[in-house]
Amino acid sequence: MTTADRRYHITTFGCQMNKADSERMAGVLEEMGYQWSEEPENANLLLYNTCTIRDNAEHKVYSHLGRQARRKHQEPDLTIVVAGCVAQQEGEALLRRVPELDLVMGPQHANRLADLLEQVFDGNQVVATESVHIIEDITKPRRDSKVTAWVNVIYGCNERCTYCVVPNVRGIEQSRTPEAIKSEMEELGRQGYKEVTLLGQNIDAYGRDLPGSTAEGRNLYTLTDLLYYVHDVPGVERIRFATSHPRYFTERLIKACQELPKVCEHFHIPFQSGDNEILKAMSRGYTQEKYRRIIDTVRQYMPDASISADAIVGFPGETEAQFENTLKLVEDIGFDLLNTAAYSPRPQTPAALWENQLSEEVKSDRLQRLNHLVNTKAAERSWRYMGRIEEVLVEDQNPKDPHQVMGRTRGNRLTFFKGSIDELKGQIVKVKITEVRPFSLTGISCAGVDP
Ligand code: SAH
Ligand code: SF4
Ligand code: F3S
Repeated sequence: MTTADRRYHITTFGCQMNKADSERMAGVLEEMGYQWSEEPENANLLLYNTCTIRDNAEHKVYSHLGRQARRKHQEPDLTIVVAGCVAQQEGEALLRRVPELDLVMGPQHANRLADLLEQVFDGNQVVATESVHIIEDITKPRRDSKVTAWVNVIYGCNERCTYCVVPNVRGIEQSRTPEAIKSEMEELGRQGYKEVTLLGQNIDAYGRDLPGSTAEGRNLYTLTDLLYYVHDVPGVERIRFATSHPRYFTERLIKACQELPKVCEHFHIPFQSGDNEILKAMSRGYTQEKYRRIIDTVRQYMPDASISADAIVGFPGETEAQFENTLKLVEDIGFDLLNTAAYSPRPQTPAALWENQLSEEVKSDRLQRLNHLVNTKAAERSWRYMGRIEEVLVEDQNPKDPHQVMGRTRGNRLTFFKGSIDELKGQIVKVKITEVRPFSLTGISCAGVDP
């Protein structure tokens, strides 16, 4: 195969972390002379970046793999790579299940893709799942957006929530140095990116493993310090971060967000359950009262802050009354967005082995009831934008209406308004909100108009 024939396609499942990894792996492939192919059928390298957070996420992967594995019998030159969290979880077992695979690689190996492919092209079937020190990015990611970008600040997770596979598949916490993070952001600023989201599964743990932190894990250098350190990077006009853990979320961080103009008033702080017994069984390390206090403090400093979270219903042993405590919390707080899921037992997690599992019927009934409430509350939250002027960073054209562009408010609400993408892409535009829906808004640009 000549370099000119190299065409790749990446299919990404999973969280922002996985999307960020895909962009880095795409960068590696392009450096190797591969070109993006929109159609998987026309590509001769297929990479699946997989997710195993819930059972259905894992199943999706297998249905894709089966199809492409059959294709390989006609096209022996096809290279099939499985990366990400299913790869890490299953390792060699994946090769037994799908023997056509060329490379199985865990998330910690994303930056090593070129080396691993060399071994594949030498005729090996390769499994890379041992835990490694994550090497600094050497290649430039091929980012999907030209306006907003993700920057990893900490990999892995040292928590042990009893339902969660992430620590098993992403390994222990590894913070990047503040210098590396800042220089990546400076490069983004030079390239014209306007918004950066700093990423970590438990971003509040940032710095715990950097030199100088104490043995008890008290960080000398924290996420708050990092925000101050990177804040003034030229060109970058908005900074976000995710995901926050209620156990470690500090008032100092909240103050910094209020004080630093580029840091957006949007917080993603999963609570998982509104019931203290369930939180304990989940090993989350906080109570619902503590969670409420955090949100109160956020709102004291920034009354208009938008709050999003994740929640799980139907955790083993959850009673109707305990589930209602989750409803109560959602009712009281009024989230702008809540990602909800029915509990799914995962391999090698403690809760999967407990005997008090709930039936699928109970779980899906609770999920529906929670989702209904979430919609109602999100619609209420959207109403506060009505008639207001919001700053929208324009990212793209509205795929459903070429006369409209779309972007996000500082609070992360998707907003549409009339305009030309060629003129507005990457600009922050003042928009008067004229229509609200639970999770999106429509408005009119105030540019040239007296607001
Ligand atoms: N690090 C983040 C979340 C990581 S996983 C945190 O600590 O909150 C993303 C979300 O998936 C979780 O917040 C949780 O709501 C959900 N999730 C994780 N494991 C799950 C499981 N076994 N079943 C259902 N949902 C799960
Ligand atoms: Fe999973 Fe808990 Fe770590 Fe989040 S903090 S990734 S839920 S173990
Ligand atoms: Fe899924 Fe792995 Fe993210 S399991 S949610 S892709 S960390």
